[in-house]
Amino acid sequence: MNNFDPLSPYNDLPPLPPKVELETKHVLKKCIEARSSLSELKMAGDLIPNQSVLINTIPLLEAKDSSEIENIVTTTDNLFRYAFDNMHQLPDAATKEALRYRTALHDGFISIEKKPLSTSTAINVCSAIKGSPMSVRKVPGTALANDSTGEVIYTPPVGEETILRKLSNLEKFLHYSTELDPLVRMAAGHYQFEAIHPFSDGNGRTGRVMNLLFLIQEGLLHQPILYLSRYILANRNEYYSLLLEVTTNESWEKWLLYILEGVVQTSVWTTQKISAIRSLSEHTADYIQTRLPKIYTRELLDVLFTQPYCRIGNLVEQGIAKRETSSAYLKRLCDEGILEESKVGRDKVFVHPKFLTLLTSENHEWVEY
Ligand SMILES: Nc1ncnc2c1ncn2[C@@H]1O[C@H](COP(=O)(O)OP(=O)(O)OP(=O)(O)O)[C@@H](O)[C@H]1O
Ligand SMILES: [Mg+2]
Repeated sequence: MNNFDPLSPYNDLPPLPPKVELETKHVLKKCIEARSSLSELKMAGDLIPNQSVLINTIPLLEAKDSSEIENIVTTTDNLFRYAFDNMHQLPDAATKEALRYRTALHDGFISIEKKPLSTSTAINVCSAIKGSPMSVRKVPGTALANDSTGEVIYTPPVGEETILRKLSNLEKFLHYSTELDPLVRMAAGHYQFEAIHPFSDGNGRTGRVMNLLFLIQEGLLHQPILYLSRYILANRNEYYSLLLEVTTNESWEKWLLYILEGVVQTSVWTTQKISAIRSLSEHTADYIQTRLPKIYTRELLDVLFTQPYCRIGNLVEQGIAKRETSSAYLKRLCDEGILEESKVGRDKVFVHPKFLTLLTSENHEWVEY
């Protein structure tokens, strides 16, 4: 059917769009569902009063799971702690790597405001993830193997020219095949990117960052808050096997349906998380207003929900009060059980346990004060 051989570089990887029909009846139906869940997420993201709540938190969850797909395992708690502050203690290697993923996503998000998604975006994203300059593979030797048996299942195309040409075809497809739904373009583009496998490492994570950037570029989201890697991690074996089946059997429909279902599930999950964060924040506002009416301000609430950790300096920076008064405020919040004080080096750090628990939990429940 095609001349694919797992052991030889797949330089015959067909360009996009493929010859087979991508938007089958099933795919279009699923697409409608995915678009509607995604637009609810977009709305939830737009409506939250303090945007930094989302920007500082959801991408960290995405970073954790996307890295874990690649067996880089850290805990959400660690991630939030070091994202807040890594001046005092150095994070372990896995946390560091996941934080770099978060930075890559963030920098990519800023960059597409100025320059549309391209091969150079992918190079920058991959370099940020790997923490050193990456370029398209120049030498052969990269192959994908089965984790347990070590058997080679796919050898990506070789030759810098070939890889660059295929990337340029992918770029054109993403930008100009506008007769196709953007979600179909994203899913097909993700397969293609992974099949080209332009780098010696970091292709999976770079491809997953590119998906989110593409959604933002297409206006389907305003912030990088879809937590798609949650679904991919939970369905990792299928992710690998469906990628391979597109190569071996042109099984595009199954692959597209898999990704679209991921968009549905993670849009719903993320929207619920955002809504829980909102209600916890409203409840906390009420509680502070009742118990500590003299110190309540919108700005103080924002500091408590910008990250699950804060310190005296954060209140000072926000112009809430001078150092001494800020310190007294935080102490009052501890007395009321809203914050917990802990020491990092010689510095006081205040944890917001209800918020941290909500961010790190699978479900979206929280207990009232
Ligand atoms: N059969 C396949 N065809 C094309 N791409 C695949 C196939 N199987 C897996 N992949 C992709 O390759 C990625 C792994 O490639 P690479 O190692 O370069 O990326 P990474 O982000 O460093 O991940 P890892 O650390 O697991 O290797 C997977 O996450 C997946 O996206
Ligand atoms: Mg790797």
